[in-house]
Amino acid sequence: MYSELKDKVVIITGGSNGIGRAIVERFVKEGSIVYNFDVSDPKDPLGKFIRCDVSSENDVKNSINRVIRESGRVNVLINNAGIESFGSVGKVPLDEWKHILDVNLQGAFLMSKFTIPHMQENGGVIEFISSIQAKIIQKKLAAYVTSKHALIGLMKSIAIDYAPKIRSMAICPGSVRTPLLEWTAMKEVGNNKERIEGKLKEWGNLYPMKRIAEAHEVANLVAFLASDEAMYITGLCIPFDGGLSIALFESVPEDDD
Ligand SMILES: NC(=O)c1ccc[n+]([C@@H]2O[C@H](COP(=O)([O-])OP(=O)(O)OC[C@H]3O[C@@H](n4cnc5c(N)ncnc54)[C@H](O)[C@@H]3O)[C@@H](O)[C@H]2O)c1
Repeated sequence: MYSELKDKVVIITGGSNGIGRAIVERFVKEGSIVYNFDVSDPKDPLGKFIRCDVSSENDVKNSINRVIRESGRVNVLINNAGIESFGSVGKVPLDEWKHILDVNLQGAFLMSKFTIPHMQENGGVIEFISSIQAKIIQKKLAAYVTSKHALIGLMKSIAIDYAPKIRSMAICPGSVRTPLLEWTAMKEVGNNKERIEGKLKEWGNLYPMKRIAEAHEVANLVAFLASDEAMYITGLCIPFDGGLSIALFESVPEDDD
């Protein structure tokens, strides 16, 4: 726990489910004043929910203005909301391409753009939930992969343009157990609970840590980066992937290790 996060005003996008929900829970535990900007209702009230489509300039402006009216400041912004779609460049329809970039990239841009003016006097922290797909990529995910790479450029631009007042970092998770990942597994194995669980286990075995991550583990890193312990960290893109992105799975002759 980080006592300095108490009473900080924290906005999390996509906080109704998955990783965002775990981040909301974590900041609520820290005693922060937490706002969840999401298009879907949370399953139970935790923090303050504001219905906001992050890809809409009007929604974002109005929602941030409401936070300022109610709480007077924003100290931390977590750009987490994201969606996925499948398809190579040749296959992905233009409207789907635009939709993925509108939510994943433009959403984070708008949220940052309209939050930064409220951070310039007293400083702040802006974090992005990108993906390990910003470093190593899967086939047939062109729009998603592009959006997650672009977030790193956005994060670095903020880090350089607004230092030292504002720190900015990106977390690049591998597979994390969430509704989004279950949906991805379902696309492969159909809507069967056992088969979905089997797929998640199979994916976990690909990781040196031999499992996928849990959402609260991402939230632990998010809280650390927002804390004073991370005061000198900015502009960093942090793989959170159980060692996946450093592993080459080519075997060499066994020795006695
Ligand atoms: N789960 C994983 O394995 C994984 C891995 C790497 C990166 N990520 C990234 O983490 C983030 C969260 O993913 P998740 O797995 O928790 O997903 P999720 O689908 O479980 O939750 C995403 C949340 O974002 C909200 N959302 C979607 N579109 C929105 C919009 N236009 N405006 C506001 N809110 C919107 C959804 O309603 C939902 O509550 C995403 O950016 C995703 O790309 C996830």
